[in-house]
Amino acid sequence: ALVSMRQLLDHAAEHSYGLPAFNVNNMEQVKAIMDAARATASPVILQGSAGARKYAGEAFLRHLIAAAVEAYPEIPVVMHQDHGASPAVCMGAIKSGFSSVMMDGSLKEDGKTPADYDYNVSVTAKVVELAHAVGVSVEGELGCLGSLETGKGEAEDGHGAEEALDHSKLLTDPDEAAQFVKATQCDALAIAIGTSHGAYKFTRKPTGDILAIDRIKAIHQRIPTTHLVMHGSSSVPQELLEEIRTYGGDIKETYGVPVEEIQEGIRYGVRKVNIDTDIRLAMTAAIRRVGAKNKSEFDPRKFMAAAMEEAKKVCIARFEAFGSAGKA
Ligand code: G3H
Ligand code: 13P
Ligand code: ZN
Repeated sequence: ALVSMRQLLDHAAEHSYGLPAFNVNNMEQVKAIMDAARATASPVILQGSAGARKYAGEAFLRHLIAAAVEAYPEIPVVMHQDHGASPAVCMGAIKSGFSSVMMDGSLKEDGKTPADYDYNVSVTAKVVELAHAVGVSVEGELGCLGSLETGKGEAEDGHGAEEALDHSKLLTDPDEAAQFVKATQCDALAIAIGTSHGAYKFTRKPTGDILAIDRIKAIHQRIPTTHLVMHGSSSVPQELLEEIRTYGGDIKETYGVPVEEIQEGIRYGVRKVNIDTDIRLAMTAAIRRVGAKNKSEFDPRKFMAAAMEEAKKVCIARFEAFGSAGKA
């Protein structure tokens, strides 16, 4: 059944677990995630980005998720709009049936320029007012995703923004977070702790100076009842990078957010963990492997079936690690 995000996150808080929120763009990703949810009896959050709407089109995205709700009736599903760039985008998603939206007012409407606090509060509060009137949940974001290694903030497309920002300004400030939640009444808050979108997050296995798990604790202490959200939370498994390289791919050395660090975040209020890149890496590794091993293969289903299998494994591992397995 389609459920609101608030319902799932409240349950997650009550039972001290976290939910992975997986990005979807096509049927294979939806099926892989749903199969993993069924295998582990986990509730799921499926989310569509602006890029997903551009790729699949709004109607396909909506119907793919509706198909998931129909084909997996025992699994609670949230249909979430990821990184809405304006109130208009969020209203469009609500109109088309999404049960949850993210108003990302940490960036201006161009999805690139860091926005000021007052702008963020005003657009987020506006979306909350309209969304809550129709039972839709809202995620806000405070702070700037980006690298503590380079001090570069991040545009919504996952590429580094041009200007370097003051390191300390990238991270979410606990007092400001408290003020923001009070002023906007958002259901969940995405915080910046040094992660970024995409495969190239860290040039080494992250330690406390570049991945600020301590900041989560400080924020949680300040606003213990607010559901926190981690973006850019793919773990970038080294085995998948190796497999991609083995079968002809070229991916430079890179590190993601270790699952143990996410588990630590879940102990301190993180309830939603956004993952896109890990599924991309899994599918790409499988497609390259099938292509390299079966050079005469030309049925796309052979590539896609292997890609789904590999993606499903990643999803099962995250449902289990974050504690949502068995909670459907
Ligand atoms: O927000 C970042 C997600 O990974 C979505 O990426 O804009 O390429 O669909 P995308
Ligand atoms: P990753 O690129 O780390 O998978 O992050 C996805 C994300 O935060 C989507 O909003
Ligand atoms: Zn994100």
